[in-house]
Amino acid sequence: MITDVNEFISRVDGAADYIRSVLSDRTIPSVCIVLGSGLGPLSQMAEEAIEIPYKDIPGFPVSTAPGHKGSLIAGTLSGKPVFMMNGRFHYYEGYPMDTVSFYVRVMGRLGVKVLLLTNASGGINMDMKVPELVAITDHISFFAEPVLRGPNLAEFGTRFPDQCHVYDPELTDILVNGARDLNIRISRGVYAYSKGPQYETPAEIRALRVLGADCVGMSTVPEAVAASHMGIRVAAMSCITNMAAGISGNALSEREVLDNAALASENSCALVKEFVKRLEI
Ligand code: HPA
Repeated sequence: MITDVNEFISRVDGAADYIRSVLSDRTIPSVCIVLGSGLGPLSQMAEEAIEIPYKDIPGFPVSTAPGHKGSLIAGTLSGKPVFMMNGRFHYYEGYPMDTVSFYVRVMGRLGVKVLLLTNASGGINMDMKVPELVAITDHISFFAEPVLRGPNLAEFGTRFPDQCHVYDPELTDILVNGARDLNIRISRGVYAYSKGPQYETPAEIRALRVLGADCVGMSTVPEAVAASHMGIRVAAMSCITNMAAGISGNALSEREVLDNAALASENSCALVKEFVKRLEI
């Protein structure tokens, strides 16, 4: 947890200054895309790309999750300057929440206005089919550690932020309309945040269904809350890589998650490109 606000903000600014210096006279992107499972190929699709390893950015953590690389890419996608985070940080890796969301703070300081978060999740809603895409409209996370716990970063945002529109409705419509026009199946759904690293129990999934969750995963929420705290507009897209625990009768495995994320990869990448193309930014 953050104890010294000034020290934290100067670490954030140190990372932002470093990124600015690497980009030198290039336009600083105002969009950041976080590449979750299955979106890795997008990192190769940026034009005129500069790749900055996380380990070179002062104050940045290094991601340890399988399938998650560790570099920030700045390049052009659909004709627009974008940042791509090729690899993110999860609470289950042992990082405190302010480390999980550190990059979001850095993006905010760099002037990023739109954050597109992507992830893999388990389907809770029985109407969902693997590997379909979900535009996340809201989340349930009150059993997880809140990312904003600790002294408020008043320079960034307010102490008690409203959570009615963490996921920007206009951006969500852009995702859904883009998918429709590309003939990609997508639904809207509520994402339940699970701390991990163990998958949920069947009883937990039944409980989450009663609470109104459509899918469940181990990322995204801390980042979305930190971003909306700073006034960054957030959209989030999930790929249903498996039906959640207890639904199919099969044991859950990372293999299944990665294989199905790869199956959806072409659609996911196409939709992200379409999303960026449609952004008025
Ligand atoms: N649970 C939690 N996280 C996940 C799942 C799941 O079933 N699938 C992919 N990420």
